Amino acid sequence: MKIIGSFPKTRLRRLRKSRWMRDIISENNISPKDLILPIFVREGKNKIENIKSMPGIKRYSIDKIPSVLKEVEKYKIPMVALFPYTPNNKKDKIGSEALNPNNLICKSLRLIKRKFPQLGIMCDVALDPYTSHGHDGIIVNNEIDNDKTIKILIKQSLLQAKMGCDVIAPSDMMDGRVGAIRKALDKNNFSNVNIISYGVKYASNFYGPFRDAVGSKTKLKKNKKTYQMDYRNADESLREIGLDIKEGADIIIVKPAIAYLDIIKKIKDNFKIPVIAYQVSGEYSLIKNGIEKKFLTDDAIMETLIAFKRAGACAIITYFALEIAKQIKK
Ligand code: PBG
Repeated sequence: MKIIGSFPKTRLRRLRKSRWMRDIISENNISPKDLILPIFVREGKNKIENIKSMPGIKRYSIDKIPSVLKEVEKYKIPMVALFPYTPNNKKDKIGSEALNPNNLICKSLRLIKRKFPQLGIMCDVALDPYTSHGHDGIIVNNEIDNDKTIKILIKQSLLQAKMGCDVIAPSDMMDGRVGAIRKALDKNNFSNVNIISYGVKYASNFYGPFRDAVGSKTKLKKNKKTYQMDYRNADESLREIGLDIKEGADIIIVKPAIAYLDIIKKIKDNFKIPVIAYQVSGEYSLIKNGIEKKFLTDDAIMETLIAFKRAGACAIITYFALEIAKQIKK
């Protein structure tokens, strides 16, 4: 591209001279409608519990979910993502609790669909909140067994769809799971249920606080590098996404987000499919701590969200969703 214009006839600072001018020429903006709020669910009644590693974020017992969702509706956030904090005594090697029609996710789905029918609900498909070893799949001969895990993920997806889940989000990174889940959904009259694939999920250091939030952190012995992507690679993300699209994914998640803006852009440039950025727990806690300690101002949040948009994301999963929606309304 040729740069047009020259100084002094052209002065780019003229376009920055006032707030209204900057607003008029802004190329990217965030609306609450671009945001997806993750919610952690726990057992019990009348419980709202702090999560140590994520200041400001809580775990809610199911009866307390409506209090959050009223805010979500008020600020016009279109979708929430549910994550369960499964008690230790319900975890086992194969994550059986994932298939319990009365597990935390299923109960939450039934309640939300009854009380907030117009709200989108997205549920992770993966076994890590339910396994005693904290891995996303089942272990056979010391390895995460791809194909045996998929058989369980199909059942988990169908169960969630049956309970009213609008969007199935496989976050396990097994090969071929999107196709297998799509086929099973279609066969069971769930052709309207979306699949948002965590297609590009890196084996990241930034998931630490989340693993604490769902109670898998102390369980996890080895890392997840045999299934989540190597952060040294970018081209590999195109191969992952190419396969996911062929297998029937509607939308792609890139995760984490701040350190992976190049990946968001690469996917947009190559596939023209909607891409959602997941600003993960470690990104949240870093920024939140900085703001609380006054090393950062709270506009730092918006700066990151806009960066995801600039890179090409259409929406953002972020623990800041409500906070930012409130900020925007002001
Ligand atoms: C589970 C899952 C993880 C996250 C979302 N789904 C953790 C992991 O893969 O270990 C991380 C989200 C976050 O850090 O905010 N498969």
